[in-house]
Amino acid sequence: MAEPGQTESSPAQPDTLRLFFALWPDDATRDALNQAGKWLHQRWGGRRMRADTLHITLAFLGSTPVAQLDSLVACADAVQTDAFQLILEQAGYWRHNRIGWLGASQTPPQHFELVGALNAALQAAGYSVDTRPHVPHATLLRNSAGGEVPECTPVHWPISDFVLVASRREADGMHYDVIRRWPLINPERS
Ligand code: 2AM
Repeated sequence: MAEPGQTESSPAQPDTLRLFFALWPDDATRDALNQAGKWLHQRWGGRRMRADTLHITLAFLGSTPVAQLDSLVACADAVQTDAFQLILEQAGYWRHNRIGWLGASQTPPQHFELVGALNAALQAAGYSVDTRPHVPHATLLRNSAGGEVPECTPVHWPISDFVLVASRREADGMHYDVIRRWPLINPERS
């Protein structure tokens, strides 16, 4: 039966969303990451991530009541970090979860400031955060065998914002919806 304000034909709104904060690539960066995924797949095999799912996770929240969205928005509003550029040129493999990924041999300090400020705000608001050292990585392959680490064409990724994403599992795999975006500070304009 439909709830008040909801028609029989409209789908019920979920009470919880599976959420994470992330860096979301612009179209050119997405293409470059996707090319890197094709290239790494030829060497390491496994299942390539679809181009529309490519990202770097900043903070993983998991299943979260929709009623907490306002508090998550307030956490992200508190983050004040300069824009920066990531250069991803380091292929990596994690044996424990069979993931092949692309990361950076040198991560700019602004990236760690962003992750640190976001996680500190989340922790202060009562969310449990990952205490392991953050390794910035874009997952390109799952269920991969890995192999020798090849030299990789660098992907230049200009980072001017970060996003909150909701993930949905569909018959054809995971789908990610960007539900809100926060700009980073452009140092040239301030
Ligand atoms: P991964 O790419 O290294 O698997 C959405 O699931 C994103 O959140 C993925 O990028 C995933 O990282 C990341 N993530 C971090 N911790 C997670 C967890 N405990 N469960 C699922 N995804 C997690």
